[in-house]
Amino acid sequence: MDAKIGLIPQCGFDSFILSLIIQIFAAAKNQIMKAKTAKESLTIQTEIVLPNDTNVLGNLMGGRLLHWMDVCSAVAAHRHCGRVVVTASVNNVSFNQPIRLGDIVTIQAKVSRSFTSSMEVFMEVWVERNATGDKIKCNEAIYTFVAVDQQGSPIAVPELIAESEEEKKRFDGALRRKQLALILAGKMKPADATELKALFF
Ligand SMILES: CC(C)(COP(=O)(O)OP(=O)(O)OC[C@H]1O[C@@H](n2cnc3c(N)ncnc32)[C@H](O)[C@@H]1OP(=O)(O)O)[C@@H](O)C(=O)NCCC(=O)NCCS
Repeated sequence: MDAKIGLIPQCGFDSFILSLIIQIFAAAKNQIMKAKTAKESLTIQTEIVLPNDTNVLGNLMGGRLLHWMDVCSAVAAHRHCGRVVVTASVNNVSFNQPIRLGDIVTIQAKVSRSFTSSMEVFMEVWVERNATGDKIKCNEAIYTFVAVDQQGSPIAVPELIAESEEEKKRFDGALRRKQLALILAGKMKPADATELKALFF
């Protein structure tokens, strides 16, 4: 009699705890993997070009700009997935205008698309001329990051929601760029790059 009375409430309590744990895990997973908009990852970094950043002509060294862009885009990728990220590839960087000593450089980075564990980040580099105050867009760059766990193995990232026309255009082109990067890295056979092939055939 005692055992029966004790068993029924205990079963109810156990299943209540179990369902609570399942709900907490489901909520945590949803929270971690909740799709995010591109603008949630927006990262803006501003630097002033100092003597130590320049070459013998007094222009910003390309490597310094690449480093600033790497940091800025890594923060954007981290804001998207909330995990440790590593740079997987750097694409499409061109230096169109010299950036001079004293100029103010502003880098804007946003995730343009996420895949399973990788994220493409688009950047715009703006320069404010020290001498005139004119603001010009100097270049665009695209970096790819991969979210990794403590062992350095790739882990899943949330989906990206593209909202503006520009974000949708970048989102649509990202798979082609990913396939091209993988072919160049020797990680994909050109025959398997269906999205890229569709451009030509
Ligand atoms: C990036 C890294 C984690 C990928 O690991 P991996 O074992 O090759 O993993 P996978 O082949 O499963 O690829 C994982 C993801 O990375 C992407 N990836 C791998 N190499 C890539 C490249 N060269 N360009 C773009 N994306 C790439 C894959 O497409 C895949 O994306 P997905 O999961 O969204 O589909 C691994 O190569 C690494 O740790 N590299 C060193 C990173 C580093 O130190 N960066 C700083 C350089 S100084």
